[in-house]
Amino acid sequence: MKDVKGKVAFITGGASGMGLGMARAFSDAGMKIMIADIEAGPAQRAVDELKARGHDAACLQVDVTNLEAMQAAAKKTVGHFGKVHVLCNNAGIAVGGKSETASMRNWHWVMDVNLWGVVHGLQAFVPLILAHGEGGHVVNTASMAGIYGVRGTGPYNASKFAVVGMTETMMAEHRKSGLGVSLLCPGVVNTNLSSSVRNRPEQYGGAVTGEKGATIGSLAAGLNPDIVGKLVLEAILDDQPYIFTDPALRNLVELRNKRLMAGYDWADKAKALEGAVQSSAVSG
Ligand SMILES: NC(=O)c1ccc[n+]([C@@H]2O[C@H](COP(=O)([O-])OP(=O)(O)OC[C@H]3O[C@@H](n4cnc5c(N)ncnc54)[C@H](O)[C@@H]3O)[C@@H](O)[C@H]2O)c1
Repeated sequence: MKDVKGKVAFITGGASGMGLGMARAFSDAGMKIMIADIEAGPAQRAVDELKARGHDAACLQVDVTNLEAMQAAAKKTVGHFGKVHVLCNNAGIAVGGKSETASMRNWHWVMDVNLWGVVHGLQAFVPLILAHGEGGHVVNTASMAGIYGVRGTGPYNASKFAVVGMTETMMAEHRKSGLGVSLLCPGVVNTNLSSSVRNRPEQYGGAVTGEKGATIGSLAAGLNPDIVGKLVLEAILDDQPYIFTDPALRNLVELRNKRLMAGYDWADKAKALEGAVQSSAVSG
């Protein structure tokens, strides 16, 4: 998108952290903002702040794990602002733990919010964005933990790798559709993510603090989330596919690529593949 002034953004998890940073940056650029969050109080406070700065904003209490609720939110957003141009699938939660020992309820919670929440956002909003023909942009928030297997957070990483795969597929599919697609892979950002359990519904164990191994460490030394908001706006205007927030983490991507290539070097010499006939017909 070359010009966002007057355009409408729907931001999940917009009441806190990076979502709020996006809401601030987008509204400063003249966009109208719909904040969607499971936490009604902080969402309303965010709207009050944006309005006090002279911006056009509203909020909806929505749980991204619920497809019908997201579809209803899409309808309400169009009813309120007329259209939606930018979708930020940003709401997320973090749990700690290894894949083999994390509690199953935390496994389900993290996948329901971080993966299915993004799927629901895409299903509810992308057809609406494509239909109005004015162009638009989707920003899916993954993580560096969706690019590199960070130790101690197996279920979280799995949810973020899924978002990376889905978003890269959309990049390939929407090259000519007028829909920009970006993947946000933050490093450490100073948000409320470490206290995600505050939003854990009863069915996944409730908002029990102090659950052993279930939370992630402090993010207090991380980047200011308002900077991430400005970075995301810049990426939308530049139609930039990959948004990395910490250039110092480039080495993780290089390390992973090196390991992947070592897998090919091994396959080149593997006895079982000698002389094998293959189609090699995978298009990117
Ligand atoms: N903070 C970091 O270091 C970091 C790093 C990489 C990726 N991320 C990702 O960034 C995204 C934003 O998180 P943040 O760090 O700003 O944390 P945050 O906790 O400050 O903000 C997340 C927001 O999502 C909302 N939310 C949680 N569950 C929800 C649900 N079911 N439905 C709707 N809203 C819900 C929360 O109420 C909160 O307002 C997440 O997807 C997270 O995984 C964060």
